[in-house]
Amino acid sequence: MRKPPFLFTKIPFPALFLLLVFSLTFQVISQNLDAERSILLDVKQQLGNPPSLQSWNSSSSPCDWPEITCIDNIVTEISLSYKTITKKIPARICDLKNLIVLDVSYNYIPGEFPDILNCSKLEYLLLLQNSFVGPIPADIDRLSRLRYLDLTANNFSGDIPAAIGRLQELFYLFLVQNEFNGTWPTEIGNLANLEQLAMAYNDKFRPSALPKEFGALKKLKFLWMTEANLIGEIPKSFNNLSSLERLDLSLNELNGTIPVGMLTLKNLTYLYLFCNRLSGRVPSSIEAFNLKEIDLSDNHLTGPIPAGFVKLQNLTCLNLFWNQLSGEIPTNISLIPTLETFKVFSNQLSGVLPPAFGLHSELKFFEIFENKLSGELPQHLCARGTLLGVIASNNNLSGEVPKSLGNCKSLLTIQVSNNRFSGEIPSGIWTSPDMVSVMLAGNSFSGALPSRLTRNLSRVDISNNKFSGQIPAEISSWMNIGVLNANNNMLSGKIPMELTSLWNISVLLLDGNQFSGELPSQIISWKSLTNLNLSRNKLSGLIPKALGSLPSLTYLDLSENQFLGQIPSELGHLKLNILNLSSNQLSGLVPFEFQNEAYNYSFLNNPKLCVNVGTLKLPRCDAKVVDSDKLSTKYLVMILILALSGFLAVVFFTLVMVRDYHRKNHSRDHTTWKLTRFQNLDFDEQNILSGLTENNLIGRGGSGKVYRIANDRSGKIFAVKMICNNGRLDHKLQKPFIAKDEILGTLHHSNIVKLLCCISNETTSLLVYEYMENQSLDRWLHGKKQRTLSMTSLVHNFILDWPTRLLRIYCPRVCLYNKGERED
Ligand SMILES: *[C@@H]1O[C@H](CO)[C@@H](O)[C@H](O)[C@H]1NC(C)=O
Ligand SMILES: *[C@@H]1O[C@H](CO)[C@@H](O)[C@H](O)[C@H]1NC(C)=O
Ligand SMILES: *[C@@H]1O[C@H](CO)[C@@H](O)[C@H](O)[C@H]1NC(C)=O
Ligand SMILES: *[C@@H]1O[C@H](CO)[C@@H](O)[C@H](O)[C@H]1NC(C)=O
Ligand SMILES: *[C@@H]1O[C@H](CO)[C@@H](O)[C@H](O)[C@H]1NC(C)=O
Ligand SMILES: *[C@@H]1O[C@H](CO)[C@@H](O)[C@H](O)[C@H]1NC(C)=O
Ligand SMILES: *[C@@H]1O[C@H](CO)[C@@H](O)[C@H](O)[C@H]1NC(C)=O
Ligand SMILES: *[C@@H]1O[C@H](CO)[C@@H](O)[C@H](O)[C@H]1NC(C)=O
Ligand SMILES: *[C@@H]1O[C@H](CO)[C@@H](O)[C@H](O)[C@H]1NC(C)=O
Ligand SMILES: *[C@@H]1O[C@H](CO)[C@@H](O)[C@H](O)[C@H]1NC(C)=O
Ligand SMILES: *[C@@H]1O[C@H](CO)[C@@H](O)[C@H](O)[C@H]1NC(C)=O
Ligand SMILES: *[C@@H]1O[C@H](CO)[C@@H](O)[C@H](O)[C@H]1NC(C)=O
Repeated sequence: MRKPPFLFTKIPFPALFLLLVFSLTFQVISQNLDAERSILLDVKQQLGNPPSLQSWNSSSSPCDWPEITCIDNIVTEISLSYKTITKKIPARICDLKNLIVLDVSYNYIPGEFPDILNCSKLEYLLLLQNSFVGPIPADIDRLSRLRYLDLTANNFSGDIPAAIGRLQELFYLFLVQNEFNGTWPTEIGNLANLEQLAMAYNDKFRPSALPKEFGALKKLKFLWMTEANLIGEIPKSFNNLSSLERLDLSLNELNGTIPVGMLTLKNLTYLYLFCNRLSGRVPSSIEAFNLKEIDLSDNHLTGPIPAGFVKLQNLTCLNLFWNQLSGEIPTNISLIPTLETFKVFSNQLSGVLPPAFGLHSELKFFEIFENKLSGELPQHLCARGTLLGVIASNNNLSGEVPKSLGNCKSLLTIQVSNNRFSGEIPSGIWTSPDMVSVMLAGNSFSGALPSRLTRNLSRVDISNNKFSGQIPAEISSWMNIGVLNANNNMLSGKIPMELTSLWNISVLLLDGNQFSGELPSQIISWKSLTNLNLSRNKLSGLIPKALGSLPSLTYLDLSENQFLGQIPSELGHLKLNILNLSSNQLSGLVPFEFQNEAYNYSFLNNPKLCVNVGTLKLPRCDAKVVDSDKLSTKYLVMILILALSGFLAVVFFTLVMVRDYHRKNHSRDHTTWKLTRFQNLDFDEQNILSGLTENNLIGRGGSGKVYRIANDRSGKIFAVKMICNNGRLDHKLQKPFIAKDEILGTLHHSNIVKLLCCISNETTSLLVYEYMENQSLDRWLHGKKQRTLSMTSLVHNFILDWPTRLLRIYCPRVCLYNKGERED
């Protein structure tokens, strides 16, 4: 029975020792794991037992839970992103003494910065995309090992504490899109290891200059401060950011010049300084050979485009539009083998275009409009078959449109309006498979209208050219055409019935041609037509009744033709903003709906037209014209009504004058508002003015504000766009207000909204529209703010993979087509 000890003697001592140590360690480890499991289960409970943490139970090892990572059986990492967590992070979590990574991103965690400063080994802290509020704790440097901090897309506010500048290990600091209302500490410049710094989309930052201290960030590769209320100059010290790869300071109010050394930063790959107030020249000493994209658009830059850009043999995107650059486009730029996007529109560039554009690179966007360029378009823009758009309007270009563009299957748009081009359009342009818009206005192009259009082509402007011949019957195949402007050409023949079969056409302008004959009496399907202009032709016969049943028509101009007979009463049912039937040979009674002063200029020079009621300045229809006695009772009633309304009007005006008299006496500085009506109105300017309150504000943009105002009396709802005529308005928006073109411009959009009136005084103009739920109000809010709003919403989806993300963010800007056509 004394055997057992013998057993021990058989086992060599070292093995025994190892076994002992092992079992002890195992015990420690398992005790430790038990403890960590109960901490985590506690945390789970305090988080409200979210169903997403189902696998956290007491019968498994935490190291096996998908959200947990262990090193040597010690919990080091918790990843709770996208777990639909709605409760605060419990302080208990820091009882996990070896926690290195805490990721709670993409949840709905409320409250202040979590109570985790006791997690002393924490290196990675990801709080992005939650609902945190309040300040960053002033003692955040207690997390002294922190290397990675991301607070993006929360509602943190207050000042960013100086303590952040003492987190010496930080290499990644993202504070994008919060509600910070102070500023950032210059101490950030002390973070010697910092590689990525992003504070973009914090538009509540106090306006501040970039600290020169940031120039000391020797390892900084990425600096992103879009829309961060930056003012003042870019510090010279930024020339010392030798590791910089991506610099984005766009959408701020930076002024002064671009530091001369900026383009000598060898590793710089993306440089975005657009939408600032930078002035002076583009630096010409260029050694940033890695540069792929430069966007300096929308600044006040002057001087030439540096020829040195040719050294950038990796450049894909060069955006210099909306500046005051002058001189010629350097020939060599057309030799860059990677160039895809070349946008230099709205400058003062002159000279001829380098002929090699398109030959050496896969050119996609070629946008040079609004300059003073002359000579021909380069012949080989589409040599690589990648070209998406040519926008060259408003220059002094001449010659023919290159034949090669007729074989360019990739083209989406060609816009060459207002140049001195001539000759015929290569026929392939009309049938290029993806073509969406063809804008050729204001040249001397000749030839006939094409009989076939490619399916997607929806916008054609050939106005002010020398197109001739008839409208082909095949025009019914122009299925998607939405806007056709062919005014002031030499087109002739009849308006064919087939033209009225265009489902999608909303704007049809054929004025100033030589069309003759009668209009088709039937209209097949002009369901979308809003604008119809046939004036200054030789059209004759009756105005077809069918025009009165077009559901969307708001603009009708048939003036300066030879139309005869009565105006069909059906036209009165239309909701017209503009009606012009002047200079025809119309006769008889003007439809009742038009008998008011809004139509004073609609019927000029039709001597046989007359009215019976209302205030229109036309002769009265005398009883002889309106035949016979059965009308006489009607007439009597009408006279009675007239007399009554006359009396009421007198009473009303007396009241108004008395009221106004009182008002003027009460407030002497009451500014006078002028009301220009485009419709019969059942409200006055006071109804609108009293509704301009903060409560009714539904939108705000670079060009003004939009209010939604309900009329107490009629219950009608108006959308009012307020535009300040002076004050701090972007210079680009300061076009002469309410030029007729602007009204027409609004009408051109497919989502038609009826313009009721305009109320204006010296400083402010109010455009009053019929309000329609779900209409895109954004369209009226052009300008800086709006552009960035859409970017901001993109940032909501921001995740760690920034290079591709950023491409997405910039994509709308770099590639957005309609950008060229400014009215969109
Ligand atoms: C505990 O979770 C593990 C996975 O982590 C699972 O395999 C096991 O079935 C769970 N046990 C209980 C009792 O729910
Ligand atoms: C943090 O640790 C300190 C000292 O260890 C302790 O006094 C304090 O209560 C802890 N804070 C929290 C929130 O747990
Ligand atoms: C953050 O603040 C903005 C406006 O200041 C508000 O619209 C938004 O709902 C807030 N978000 C959260 C998560 O609190
Ligand atoms: C900043 O925001 C905080 C909290 O939202 C507020 O208490 C504070 O007054 C604001 N400070 C400034 C300067 O606006
Ligand atoms: C730049 O802006 C700052 C502040 O916004 C102003 O003080 C300074 O005069 C401006 N400098 C130039 C050159 O416009
Ligand atoms: C750039 O760095 C050098 C040396 O590191 C320093 O001497 C110089 O002052 C810095 N330049 C600026 C503008 O900060
Ligand atoms: C530039 O980038 C290269 C390659 O990524 C790297 O080796 C080099 O150190 C960088 N230069 C600087 C000054 O950071
Ligand atoms: C262009 O980029 C490639 C990699 O994309 C790189 O290898 C090459 O060195 C770059 N060229 C220049 C001139 O920097
Ligand atoms: C630019 O082109 C000119 C000739 O037009 C040539 O002399 C010059 O060397 C080129 N510059 C570069 C940097 O290629
Ligand atoms: C346009 O170019 C022609 C020569 O091609 C020139 O005579 C004319 O002055 C230019 N017009 C403008 C406005 O620059
Ligand atoms: C037309 O446009 C649509 C979408 O806008 C696109 O999918 C299609 O490829 C285009 N081309 C043709 C020939 O329909
Ligand atoms: C044109 O009309 C057709 C048929 O109504 C419709 O399917 C199509 O979406 C319209 N196209 C455009 C560009 O509005």
